[in-house]
Amino acid sequence: MAAFTINGSPHTFDGDPDMVLLWYLRDIAGMTGTKFGCGLALCGACTVHVDGQAVRACQTYVEDLEGTEVTTIEGLSEDGSHPVQEAWRTLNVAQCGYCQPGQIMQAAALLSDTPNPTDADIDAAMAGNICRCGTYPRIRAAIKLAAGGSN
Ligand code: FES
Ligand code: FES
Repeated sequence: MAAFTINGSPHTFDGDPDMVLLWYLRDIAGMTGTKFGCGLALCGACTVHVDGQAVRACQTYVEDLEGTEVTTIEGLSEDGSHPVQEAWRTLNVAQCGYCQPGQIMQAAALLSDTPNPTDADIDAAMAGNICRCGTYPRIRAAIKLAAGGSN
């Protein structure tokens, strides 16, 4: 049994111990913003926050979430006004868009910990988030824009 919150709403889970957060979010909670890419913690498409830290939902067991606060792309802001989301729109970062919820959640966690990241900080934080469309230059620029600098 685990009691936790998702985007501020209480949830309890007492089911299959193999249930991972990605499937709980998509299939039980009905939040499909968090994407399935690899299922192996190799692509970052499923990135969410647990207590403010970026984690891979595909490898996070729900029964381990007792007492935690989960934030998904749906809850990053009420109206898409998080600075990372604003920067993403300003620079038209997304191409197909599939990886972008994970990219945004990873970037938001980076800026929460490191408000003015260097290129090396960005590379280190974002290295595990794969984009098959190759939007990496725009992602880097948008992170810098969200941090308050020019891009
Ligand atoms: S689906 Fe979780 S890291 Fe790829
Ligand atoms: S925008 Fe298409 S995979 Fe990243």
